[in-house]
Amino acid sequence: MPLKKKSTGKLISFEGSEGSGKSTQIARLAAHFQKAHREVVSTREPGGTEIGEQIRNIIVHNSKGDEMCAETELLLFAAARAQVVREVIAPALVRGAIVLSDRFLDSSTVYQGIARNLAADPVAQINRFAVGNVMPDLTIVIDVPTKVSLARLKRRASDLPDRMERENVDFYNKVRDGYLVLATSMPGRIIVVDGTKTEDVIEKKIWAAVQARLK
Ligand code: TMP
Repeated sequence: MPLKKKSTGKLISFEGSEGSGKSTQIARLAAHFQKAHREVVSTREPGGTEIGEQIRNIIVHNSKGDEMCAETELLLFAAARAQVVREVIAPALVRGAIVLSDRFLDSSTVYQGIARNLAADPVAQINRFAVGNVMPDLTIVIDVPTKVSLARLKRRASDLPDRMERENVDFYNKVRDGYLVLATSMPGRIIVVDGTKTEDVIEKKIWAAVQARLK
């Protein structure tokens, strides 16, 4: 399906390790835009559509999930992304909405490419195929040390950790470093905020960056 050209809509993606505080900050940023009378669409990856939520279930909760190879994982994330882009994100951008996405293509670059060690070229090609011409206008990486991220995960876990959450410290260190390297290589699109600050401080930093970058 060809994607229509964006109009005045903006896509802002949030990235970071588990427990970095993305959902809290997405809700806070949404409130700023709503106060300014902008339509806000919040979505998440994998998920955001019925098909995407089913794919999420296969990836993170499938009891056989431990046997899933990295290539399959990459393609499933990409499939969920292709769906949410065409079903939710592109139409919202055409309407002029602000779309806030909890994770987007950088998650695959970092988790599957860097942490799972899949070759960068196919990951980039598959990412491009999934998103079509829909790229984030701004990406906010909320950076927290692995120790903090894992401690937060432990505190909030109401039941058994899912398949991704069972990864070890080494994996999460690669994820964290991966995001920092990516941000350095794309300073025009990606900003990093310190996720160990208070929620209010982080909110202010993000809102200031959004206003400065997106005018
Ligand atoms: P979440 O719990 O932050 O919503 O993300 C689900 C898990 O999926 C999380 O461990 C990150 C992982 N993930 C990838 O490995 N690759 C991807 O492309 C996406 C979107 C998520």
